This record gives sequence, structure tokens and C-alpha cells, in this order.
Amino acid sequence: MTAMPGTDLPVAEPLPPTDALLQVRDLQKFFPITSGVLIQRKVGAVQAVDGISFDLAAGETLGLVGESGCGKSTAGRTITKLLEPTGGSVVFDGKDISHLSPARMRPLRREVQMIFQDPYSSLNPRHTIGAIVGAPFRVQDIKTEHGIKTEVQGLLERVGLNPEHYNRYPHEFSGGQRQRIGIARAIALRPKLIVCDEPVSALDVSIQAQVVNLLEDLQNEFGIAYIFVAHDLSVVRHISDRVAVMYLGKIMELADRDELYSAPLHPYTQSLLSAVPVPDPERERQRDRILLVGDLPSPINPPSGCVFHTRCWKVQDRCKVEVPEYREIVPGHRIACHFPEERTVLGEVKGSAASAGLMGADEVLVTSVNSPVTGAVVTPPTGAEFADPSA
Ligand SMILES: Nc1ncnc2c1ncn2[C@@H]1O[C@H](COP(=O)(O)OP(=O)(O)OP(=O)(O)O)[C@@H](O)[C@H]1O
Ligand code: SF4
Ligand SMILES: [Mg+2]
Repeated sequence: MTAMPGTDLPVAEPLPPTDALLQVRDLQKFFPITSGVLIQRKVGAVQAVDGISFDLAAGETLGLVGESGCGKSTAGRTITKLLEPTGGSVVFDGKDISHLSPARMRPLRREVQMIFQDPYSSLNPRHTIGAIVGAPFRVQDIKTEHGIKTEVQGLLERVGLNPEHYNRYPHEFSGGQRQRIGIARAIALRPKLIVCDEPVSALDVSIQAQVVNLLEDLQNEFGIAYIFVAHDLSVVRHISDRVAVMYLGKIMELADRDELYSAPLHPYTQSLLSAVPVPDPERERQRDRILLVGDLPSPINPPSGCVFHTRCWKVQDRCKVEVPEYREIVPGHRIACHFPEERTVLGEVKGSAASAGLMGADEVLVTSVNSPVTGAVVTPPTGAEFADPSA
């Protein structure tokens, strides 16, 4: 163990191999940018995912949050091998699947599945529900005791759909029902891992709650591990055991969900949490809100040093040149920042305006800033870099 620069905090070494169900190490996915008419030359790359590392235990849920374009979907698709990684490794159930060919990956599709955001486009409109949910059995050439139809009807019932609708087409269902069809297809072969990419973002709030509850029930029943990608921090807090916060292709902070929501250490996480609306006007007045200005920088040419430095209120010279190491600064809590400090979260955790009534979802009220880590008091952000919407 070494000391965190500028503090007395001990830091652990980078993630070692473990016996977790999923081990993601320094995973990269770059999309090449080419130019030229006859001869295509590579002129750059979109660095969509740039060196993420984490473990996922069997039956665990890891929430993945971050601004649009930060690489959440690309990370999910690379882990499930819908995309070939550029670098790093994915070890699933003790087997390195990073560079398996589609043919060698096929048997593993039984165990690694994905649910997509858009239940409209992820279901083939020309296929019946029976064909869609039964496809994994046919692709994997799996014989079932009472036939595929009986199996599929059991699955439809399990996800809250009428088994009699076996011969209907996707357009005959509502958005929530279509997502249930996608879930039935994903759980058909009892996978150990499902990457859920914004599975409820396109649904009404009341329907979101039902679908999230269904996912939880299925997890309890079958012991499935989830990577749950979402924008809604309340939903992520509700369903996740741990949460990873991504920014420009990197994980900025990863911690147990209660720790992350009550004592976020990374300036980016703090800004995300401070943006969650508070329904109580009194507490809304008390809190300081950090609204990041400017767009997410381009992943084609990410900022030097800490990729967040162009938008961080705590930026110092060192941040512009030195990439912060992704370190475990307390057990289970990793962060990529040279100057991590806790923002104390005061008051009760309450349901947000958007999610009030939704599964008792939570949000966090950030009302003051101090630093048990260094003992310093952090001045709330002011100046041109920040706009305070409550001002
Ligand atoms: N096939 C592709 N070719 C080139 N660039 C891509 C491709 N897919 C994604 N990207 C780029 O990679 C970056 C990350 O995209 P990604 O879809 O993973 O982000 P995201 O966090 O899922 O965003 P959102 O919240 O909007 O879904 C973006 O800049 C995106 O434009
Ligand atoms: S390393 Fe510097 S720029 Fe990056 S988040 Fe920490 S304080 Fe901000
Ligand atoms: Mg996405």
C-alpha cells in the first residue's frame, strides 16, 4: 500500500484478478475514423471506452451512470461481445472471452444476454412473439421437455404476459409489454449475466416501476447478475448494489450505492447527484447545485490529464497533465481524482419529483461541503464555469 498523493490516505494497487463472475480489466473500445475514397486511411478514433475495470459478483447489480455519450452502451456491448474490444480483457465465469470469435462465443450466449432500451426496434416486427422468445432455444439447438411452445408460454406468463398471445406480433403490444417480451427472450436460457441498457428509459414512470420490479424478482429467482445502464439516478439507486459513474469513456467513481449516494468523493459524481431535483422547496433552497457548463468533450480528442478537467471546479495544474489513477481509497470505493473530497449529504433521502411514487426511489440532497478526507473546507463552486439555477 502506498499513500494517496497530497493526503495520508492509503491506496490499494490496481484491481487484481478475482473469482468474480465477471472481471473487466482496462477494457477499451475505440471506433476508427477513416478518410479517403478508394483507399481508406485511419485518421483517428472515437475513444468510446478507454480503460474501464471492475468486478461483478454472481447475482449482483452494478449500476452504470453518466452523461449521454460517455460510453455506457459501448461498454455494455463490448462486455457482451456484440463489439470486439480494442484492448483490455473480459473474463466471464473464469474464461477470457475478450477475443472469442462469434462462433466460439455462441455457446456463451446462453449465459450472457442483453436487454435494450428501445423495445420497439429490438424486436423484429415480422416475427411473432412465440418466434422471438423461442429463438434462443432454436439458435442454441436446445430441446425442452414439453416443446419450445410450452416453454415460451411459461416464460411469457413469468414476465406478466398472456401466454395466449404467443402468435401475436410486436406492434400489437404496448411499450411496457414489448420490454417484457425482450426480458422473456433474455431470460429464456437462464443466463448468469444480463446487461440492461436503459431498459426503462423509454417507458412511462408507472410502467418503469413494474419493469424494474420484474427485473428484481427475476434476479432473486434465478440469481442473475445485472449491469444496469440508466440515466435516472433514482432508478439506479433503487436497483443497484454498487454504482459506477462514467465520464468520457472512463470510470470516475465506483462504490457501494449507499456510500456513493451519501458520500460521493468525485467532483463529477457530486455534480450529477446535485442535479437531482428535490421536491421539498425548503430543502431545495438550502442546497447548492453544481450545474456543469459546456458539453462533454469529444471522445475523438479527449482532454489531457484528467478527462474531466475542462469542466471541474477543483481543477489544478496537475490535473491538466497527469491522468489520475483509478484507486481504491477506502475498501470497495474507487475513484479517479487527484483531489477527492467528500460532500456531506444532509437530510433524509427522499423520492424525486420525477420518481415520486415510483418504487420508493431515492435521491440525495447535497446541502453543504466539507472534507473529512483532508479536513479542508471546499468552497462551493462559483464563477463563470458554473451556473447555479437556484440563483
Ligand atoms: N459504431 C460507432 N461508431 C463510431 N462511434 C460510435 C459508435 N457507437 C458509439 N459511438 C460513439 O461512442 C461514444 C459513446 O457512445 P455510447 O452510445 O456508448 O454512449 P452512451 O453513454 O451509451 O450514451 P447515451 O446515454 O446517449 O445512450 C459516443 O461519442 C458515440 O458517438
Ligand atoms: S483530478 Fe482534478 S480535474 Fe479531475 S476530477 Fe479531480 S480535481 Fe477535478
Ligand atoms: Mg447508450
